[in-house]
Amino acid sequence: MAGRESLPLLRVLAGERLDPPPIWIMRQAGRYLPEYRDLRSRAKSFLDFCYSPALATEAVMQPLRRFPLDAAILFSDILVVPDALGRQVAFLEGEGPRLDPLIGSETWRLGDVEKAIQRLAPVYEAAERIRAAISSHTALIGFAGGPWTVATYMLQGRGGEKTDALRCAYQRADEVDALLAILVETTAQHLAAQVKAGADCVQIFESWADGLAPALFQRLVISPTRDLINRVRELGITAPIIGFPRGAGAQFQAYASQTGVTALGVDTQTPADYAVEVTPERMPLQGNLDPQTLVVGGETLERAARDVLIAFRSAPHIFNLGHGITPDATPENVAQLVQIVRGAA
Ligand code: CP3
Repeated sequence: MAGRESLPLLRVLAGERLDPPPIWIMRQAGRYLPEYRDLRSRAKSFLDFCYSPALATEAVMQPLRRFPLDAAILFSDILVVPDALGRQVAFLEGEGPRLDPLIGSETWRLGDVEKAIQRLAPVYEAAERIRAAISSHTALIGFAGGPWTVATYMLQGRGGEKTDALRCAYQRADEVDALLAILVETTAQHLAAQVKAGADCVQIFESWADGLAPALFQRLVISPTRDLINRVRELGITAPIIGFPRGAGAQFQAYASQTGVTALGVDTQTPADYAVEVTPERMPLQGNLDPQTLVVGGETLERAARDVLIAFRSAPHIFNLGHGITPDATPENVAQLVQIVRGAA
């Protein structure tokens, strides 16, 4: 059998252009699948689900049984890291994640990194099981949140409006920088452990890269991400790293050239031409179909998918959405998309 480097996703991440491009879908395991909703109802809480290797493996297999995708993504969440660091994390039905906010406490107490990694052992066990369960034609992607995105949830206790986290980054600068440093170390070890357990590459979800003044973007996104990637490399990991700085806008170029990422996830609002133009020659680009077209379907989906294929035709390209699939997308539309991209429609 040929080595894993011959998998289409890994060939593109090594700088090759493939036609058709490999395809996977951000949040491909999730609530738009009825079988996922059924599986989800068997776990007490979403975190229990994430920490059950058997349930996590089953969730990963569900979309792969329906669609011929080129990659599986580990089933977990970016917020297992704060949970493992001893913060309270809960997922409220219909409201999204809630954490015990750091803003409002005088001193910020966090557990140590070694204990956090021990607590995350079920995630690595899930990665091992998933790697054994998927076909040899499917790549496995590990992931973590970017330090700033995870810090935002920890500071505010929730996503959404980020005003409080931004003010805090100015007002309690030393403490925020120290928090980012802990997240860098924990996340580096977390990603390295996923690769050791069988992930072929990893993605860093910097979902809250928007709305930052240029100086803050340097301090809160670029610098911690560069430290994170350097640290992952120091730990002996050579696997490709996809950075996804959602909403980075004009800072996208700085993120591409200064962080050390192998490849870039392009968000929905970023024009493909712009992404190709401002990234280093032959840097692999992933994206960026509007997730809403998977709700609408039909000709809208077909046209949008073809536009994405054409727009990225000059770069090594991984077909994906510009953000996660929404719960109201239909499995039929996903099937249609995969057919279009594979050239079968
Ligand atoms: O197939 C996959 O991609 C599944 C793995 C995965 C999940 N979360 C599972 C999940 C991944 C890669 C994530 C990343 C994640 N989690 C991000 C970055 C990506 C992005 O969308 O920007 C963020 C910001 C989070 C934090 C988070 N987790 C939020 C905001 C929510 C609530 C979403 C909502 O609409 O309610 C979650 C919960 C979550 N994570 C679900 C899943 C399948 C749904 C929870 C459930 O099933 O009850």
